[in-house]
Amino acid sequence: MKRTDIIQSLINKISAENYLEIGVSAGENFRDIKCKNKVGVDPETSTPATIHTDSDSFFKTDKRTWDIIFIDGLHHADQVYRDINNSLKVLSDGGFIVCHDMNPQLEEHQTLPYQGGIWNGDCWKAYVQLRQERDDLAMCVVDTDYGCGIITKGYQEKLDKIDDLNFNTFSQKRKEWLNLISPETFLSKIVASNTNKNDYDVKYLTNLLHHYIQHPEDPEINYLIAMFYWDIGQTAACMSYCLRTVERSDSKLLQYECLIRAAMCYEKQGTRKFTVKGLIQNAMIVMPKRPEAHFLLARHYEHHNQSDDGAWKDCYQTACLAEAFCERDPEPLRTDVDYPGFYGILFEKAISSWWCGLCDESRDLLQDLLDNDDLNDTFKASVIDNLKRLTKDDNAGLPRLNWYRKRDHKKLRYNFRNSRDIEKNFAESYQDMFVLSMLNGKKNGTYLEIGAGNSFYGNNTALLEGNYNWTGVAIDIDENFVNAHNTERKHTCVLKDALKINYERFLLGLDMPNDIDYLQLDCDPPEVTYKILLNIPFETYRFAVITYEHDYYCDETKSFRNKSRKYLESFGYKLVVDNISPDDDRPYEDWWIHPDLVHKKIIDKMVCVDGKTKKAEKYMFNSL
Ligand SMILES: C[S@@+](CC[C@H](N)C(=O)[O-])C[C@H]1O[C@@H](n2cnc3c(N)ncnc32)[C@H](O)[C@@H]1O
Repeated sequence: MKRTDIIQSLINKISAENYLEIGVSAGENFRDIKCKNKVGVDPETSTPATIHTDSDSFFKTDKRTWDIIFIDGLHHADQVYRDINNSLKVLSDGGFIVCHDMNPQLEEHQTLPYQGGIWNGDCWKAYVQLRQERDDLAMCVVDTDYGCGIITKGYQEKLDKIDDLNFNTFSQKRKEWLNLISPETFLSKIVASNTNKNDYDVKYLTNLLHHYIQHPEDPEINYLIAMFYWDIGQTAACMSYCLRTVERSDSKLLQYECLIRAAMCYEKQGTRKFTVKGLIQNAMIVMPKRPEAHFLLARHYEHHNQSDDGAWKDCYQTACLAEAFCERDPEPLRTDVDYPGFYGILFEKAISSWWCGLCDESRDLLQDLLDNDDLNDTFKASVIDNLKRLTKDDNAGLPRLNWYRKRDHKKLRYNFRNSRDIEKNFAESYQDMFVLSMLNGKKNGTYLEIGAGNSFYGNNTALLEGNYNWTGVAIDIDENFVNAHNTERKHTCVLKDALKINYERFLLGLDMPNDIDYLQLDCDPPEVTYKILLNIPFETYRFAVITYEHDYYCDETKSFRNKSRKYLESFGYKLVVDNISPDDDRPYEDWWIHPDLVHKKIIDKMVCVDGKTKKAEKYMFNSL
């Protein structure tokens, strides 16, 4: 029986879906493992690992849980000890850790450093260390393939303290120290067993109480009993063992965690909100810089906003203080206290600021949270829901565009007239802000918008119409867009194929002036936009500003950008910005002006043509 058989039989036993392998090497084992989601971690880029990094870095950032974890990375005791402890934090209930090379046969097989030949490293020391420290684990080593250690959450008698972990004693005591079992016993006792959780709980508690009777003042035992009661939902018992731990422990961190846990017990019971608050405040006093208690207090105020006067202000104040003073990345607590991460504090600040009348701040914070990749799904959904409810923004949750926000005003490339009053824009890549910049915040301007799209979300003329009283006409081929536009916007959108319009007659019929302030050309694919460009009556009409979408990044022919440039230049237009992109690598638009219709002073300020791709946000905020 090889390690792969051991691992696969455990995967099959618990119908595991998520498998993690630390140390993949040539993939001899990884390749053969059958599991729905497999992740292999190895710093060597030549290995078939799916993530190339060392295990410490991996566990620092990756917080997914795993059903089976195979530890076979760096074979040094300290590293294996860290790998096992890190794995225990992300092991799903009922999951297994398998550790390779736990049973070296000869002294030289385990001597550091690696000297070639058969070599297991001194991983066994990490395993034996845990056998002395943890009675909340069940551990054994299957005597095959250099020793496959199996660890699961459970119960075991701890080994008596071993003063000197040396190979001589190990070779005499390996059966006891490793809890060595045969492959047959593994198959019959572990793979085929159907241990009842209740039996296990009873055994575990009996063991804890046995220790407790002998050492009632030991904070660790009190803590373990508290957590046992928490896990089985006995909050009254949990809370009293938490308080006993607080009174007996010298560790501030343990006191802090237990005060929070006690508050969580009262919270679950649901009737003692002042006690909950008091316990959380006590935790804050013990470790003022830790963020968890601040978050829980802010959330407590949030939840009691209807019954307590001033609760929103208290929530906001708590969140602000936490943001200013608390550690962002503190040493982890031993157990989960319902703290999502630092974004939880920002979330509380965002919600409470709204009810404190700080609506701009609230909107900005919620938008920032949407951009935060750490957010879990529940928080993300709540942020979107709040954005929709509080700010009446129905587009909340759609992919975030490069939206301008009032607080960005000072950074603008050009502070055009009345720009200070703009709360937010709508265009995908600041096209509306660009048009206003070139025309110094012109009021009552005119536009022709070809390829209108959504009436607000990502739309280039909504801001001009809404804030600057522009008039104009939009064209789109999609009936839904046109209907929405005509219901929600002041000016018309016509349902037409922009390729089939005689623009000379069209503009005449609309009584448009010969100098129009803004022309938007945006109908994918690139060939269509270019053909429309050729139909615009540039002999009769001049446009102060043109945004032209050439979609160079996805134009297979790579020809339309150049053709459009030549064509517009032939009518005297000047390129002001080339290769605008919503991000760093999708050049999709050029922005043009007619030099007779735009002030030179502004052109000089705004011009930026260098052949490079420009993220619109960086261009508009002068940070290229
Ligand atoms: C014994 S081999 C793994 C064999 C593989 N698990 C198998 O059963 O086929 C050890 C691997 O661990 C990798 N390794 C070394 N240090 C590591 C670390 N800190 N984290 C993860 N992997 C590490 C090495 O690059 C090497 O590929």
